[in-house]
Amino acid sequence: MMSDRLAICPGSFDPVTVGHLDIISRASRLFDRVVVAVLTNDAKRAAFSIDERMQFIRTAIADAGLDNVEVDTSDKLLADYCRERGAVAIVKGLRAVSDFEYEFQMALTNKKLYPDAETVFLTTSSENMYLSSSLVKQIAAHGGDISDFVPKVIKSEIEERLHKKG
Ligand code: PNS
Repeated sequence: MMSDRLAICPGSFDPVTVGHLDIISRASRLFDRVVVAVLTNDAKRAAFSIDERMQFIRTAIADAGLDNVEVDTSDKLLADYCRERGAVAIVKGLRAVSDFEYEFQMALTNKKLYPDAETVFLTTSSENMYLSSSLVKQIAAHGGDISDFVPKVIKSEIEERLHKKG
């Protein structure tokens, strides 16, 4: 019998969007177990702490009823984390062509560092094609409506945290 197959969905999730949740939910149907790994992207300055980002994701996956998904964090390299957890795949969403070069570079590097995990790209749903956490942050900071972009259960918390008053 095949052992149960674990996939890692890595990202900075600052904050998690409906686009991320769509990818996590689709990954949860393809694999036995999914770990959403909240990691540090050295190229980005985060607005939310790791704990806040993990809590947002936990709330969203509980609300979506994804019971084979857990949330974790690590300060290790993604490749080392995959080795430690015995993951068979790294699942990422691919949006527009502009994602491609950066994602391809990471996928090839992770494959070199840990050949036993395959990076699997899921094409984004068309309505999330141009959605990103950084746009969500900008919209919320200026008091705009982020209802279409983040899971409903965490919307007001994100707005409260980001809205610059006055
Ligand atoms: O959501 P993001 O910011 O595009 O995700 C990027 C992330 C966090 C997955 C990437 O920066 C990462 O893997 N960070 C952990 C450190 C690491 O392994 N870096 C080398 C990647 S080849």
